[in-house]
Amino acid sequence: MNRKYRKTVIAGNWKMNKTPSETKEFMTEFKTIMPKGRWCDVALCVPAVCIPAAVRAMRETRVGIGAENCNANASGAYTGEIAANMLVDAGCKYVILGHSERRAMGETNEDVNAKVLTALENGLVPIMCVGESLEQREQGITEEWITMQIKCGLRGVGEDKIRKMVIAYEPIWAIGTGKTATPEQAEEVCESIRTVIRKLYGAKIARAISILYGGSMNEKNAYDLLAQPDIDGGLIGGASLVPEKFVKIIEAANQPTI
Ligand code: PGA
Repeated sequence: MNRKYRKTVIAGNWKMNKTPSETKEFMTEFKTIMPKGRWCDVALCVPAVCIPAAVRAMRETRVGIGAENCNANASGAYTGEIAANMLVDAGCKYVILGHSERRAMGETNEDVNAKVLTALENGLVPIMCVGESLEQREQGITEEWITMQIKCGLRGVGEDKIRKMVIAYEPIWAIGTGKTATPEQAEEVCESIRTVIRKLYGAKIARAISILYGGSMNEKNAYDLLAQPDIDGGLIGGASLVPEKFVKIIEAANQPTI
């Protein structure tokens, strides 16, 4: 983290977990144990049907609610899909885009890019995910692959808009596996992402953009991961489903930094 230049963001990704009733229960517990003092930006990205309950529960707090996907189109015949302006109207601030689980369902870099542009136009903060597979890491093409994902995902995103974005580095082999990247491995890729942003947008913007790590981040490993200079927060799956664990990660983000 480097709080002097950029925000620290701790974001939960609930994936397909919890009903609206369970959301209410989580929020009640979470609110009672949430750190009160100096803290980072906190987001909870929840299943679409849980958004109203989450927004209602978190109204008086600084926790922003987000969705886990949106459609790139403004409206129309897209059965089952949800448009960015619907999310905004429902009270969302964030939207996760390009998560590897959605890419595995067929989402391309072009799709991710179209969604990023729509989300930004509607005033949402896109949390754009990138990450390599184990095979790609073993082949030594991690940096190349991620650079391509970043460049494609950000096509057409202007200097005024990139500042609103958050990028999440999530190695696919670390997601939901309990196999976290080491702080050094995660830092190496987050630093290279910042270098790509520097080449695209210049040093000032690169210094100001928040880059998160995701992939089996939990209450035990969060402190060391967040101590890395280019890791500005976390995108947390499993550990965001349990209030105490999520709170411990937020506390780890409140650690002193240089
Ligand atoms: P995990 O998921 O923390 O359960 O590994 C992270 C993510 O997929 O965003």
